[in-house]
Amino acid sequence: MSASLDALVQEALTTGRIANLPNGHFIDGRFQPSQSGARMESFDPGRGIAFADFAAGDAADIDAAVEAGRRALRGRWRDLKPAERGRILQRAAALIGENAERLAVVESLDSGKKLVEALGDVRGAARTFEYYAGACDKLQGDTMPLGRNHFGMTVHEPVGVTAHIIPWNYPISTTARGLAPALAAGCAVVAKPAEQTPFTALMLADILHQAGLPDGVCNVVSGTGREAGAPLVAHPGIDQITFTGSVATGIGVMQAAAPNVTRLVLELGGKSPVVVFADCDIEAALSGMMEAIYENAGQICSAGSRLVIEKSFSGTFLARLTERVRALTLGHGLTNPGMGPVNSAVQLAKIEGMVAAAVKRGAILHTGGARAEGGELGQGWFYQPTIVEPSLSSDAIVQEEVFGPVLTVQAFETEEEALALANGTRFGLVAGIYTADFGRAHRLARDIDAGQVFINDYFAGGIEMPFGGNRKSGFGREKGLDGLKNYTRVKSIAARISG
Ligand code: NAI
Ligand code: MG
Repeated sequence: MSASLDALVQEALTTGRIANLPNGHFIDGRFQPSQSGARMESFDPGRGIAFADFAAGDAADIDAAVEAGRRALRGRWRDLKPAERGRILQRAAALIGENAERLAVVESLDSGKKLVEALGDVRGAARTFEYYAGACDKLQGDTMPLGRNHFGMTVHEPVGVTAHIIPWNYPISTTARGLAPALAAGCAVVAKPAEQTPFTALMLADILHQAGLPDGVCNVVSGTGREAGAPLVAHPGIDQITFTGSVATGIGVMQAAAPNVTRLVLELGGKSPVVVFADCDIEAALSGMMEAIYENAGQICSAGSRLVIEKSFSGTFLARLTERVRALTLGHGLTNPGMGPVNSAVQLAKIEGMVAAAVKRGAILHTGGARAEGGELGQGWFYQPTIVEPSLSSDAIVQEEVFGPVLTVQAFETEEEALALANGTRFGLVAGIYTADFGRAHRLARDIDAGQVFINDYFAGGIEMPFGGNRKSGFGREKGLDGLKNYTRVKSIAARISG
């Protein structure tokens, strides 16, 4: 750890606070208080106490942000030379990198995630801006052969002002993943971070402004889903919504978008399988499994939360996995433990209730299955890393998203059974496959109903790979060049030139 990072961490750990956090919404190029004056608190999940407060926005602040976006669109941003937009986003990437330590400490304290993970997220956010910066001047259309007398072409226009509803599990990553392609396409944006983790999105808006983004192009309004999120997604001045969060809230957002016929992308989480065959590289599969479900304490939409394992290999694999899971140390995210806390008391209670109910129905607990409360942990929101094996695949613990460090186990004997189990939930976000058999890996990759499939390396790939779900996991794709399509619309222009 660098000396400067260590100093920031020590300050945060000893005082429980971080100086000079953003204290207003970022609207029209500056921080502003809520029009109502309302504020709310954000918590440090490692200690279960409030560490800072922030502006709690409502419809009036959303109106101001959307109006700022609409004003900024014309002349200032949409009509800027694409290469110049690219340079500004490239500078933003560099500035995120320069501010990485502070951003990561804030992200860790606010969300509970491990500092190393937060640093990875911040570097990922910089990389996201770098990736889309290079795309600004490559959003070119086509020409269509219409014969000698006509000329036809397509233009990829920015959709306008876009809304981004951000969850608490990956605050800066999700913000960057939506904002970078929207800005690259020439849109203006209004983001609403989760009320549990508002700070890094606000800091990012400030950084983008420092990088040269004109006033009003990027606006961030903090506050609750009900007070600030709902008026944003129902706003007639919004041309596109990108929502990441729960299925229930996503359905509500879709309904709120309908009266204005606002287009949208829904990224709604999952119950993703990790299919492990006996012929796999066991070390790779163990490491992949640990990352898939215990990174960020399992609070990942694309977490590999279901181990689908070949029966003959199950005993060997589970013994090794359980050993690794028991060795995970728990602690405050800023101390870089094996695993950090979960994000909120609400989330902790949800996890606890779901596992307890499964055990009551007869599920076998291989390890974990309770809150972790010893010593300092008692103050924070900690849940033991857990492996649970219900007798039926229809059990709620297999079918419902827990969004915590809870892995379920399902065994199969044939490839057909493996596929049926992998596809046996209402979700279809991602899937992992571990096998040495190339043909089998690709047969499953073809037949599994998911938006992204990882072979022999869970979470492989980066911003280059399109990401998004099928079925109840939502629709639309973020990341990659496909992610740009959310923020552009095609216009066809046909002209008669002679005849
Ligand atoms: P949520 O879906 O309610 O919250 C996500 C975001 O939506 C937050 O910014 C929230 O303020 C906003 N929001 C809430 N109501 C809204 C509304 N009516 N209009 C517009 N925006 C609104 O999820 P919550 O309550 O934080 O977590 C509940 C469960 O959702 C978790 O246990 C987990 O299973 C799932 N979840 C999935 C995520 C994913 O990455 N797909 C992220 C967060 C939660
Ligand atoms: Mg917080």
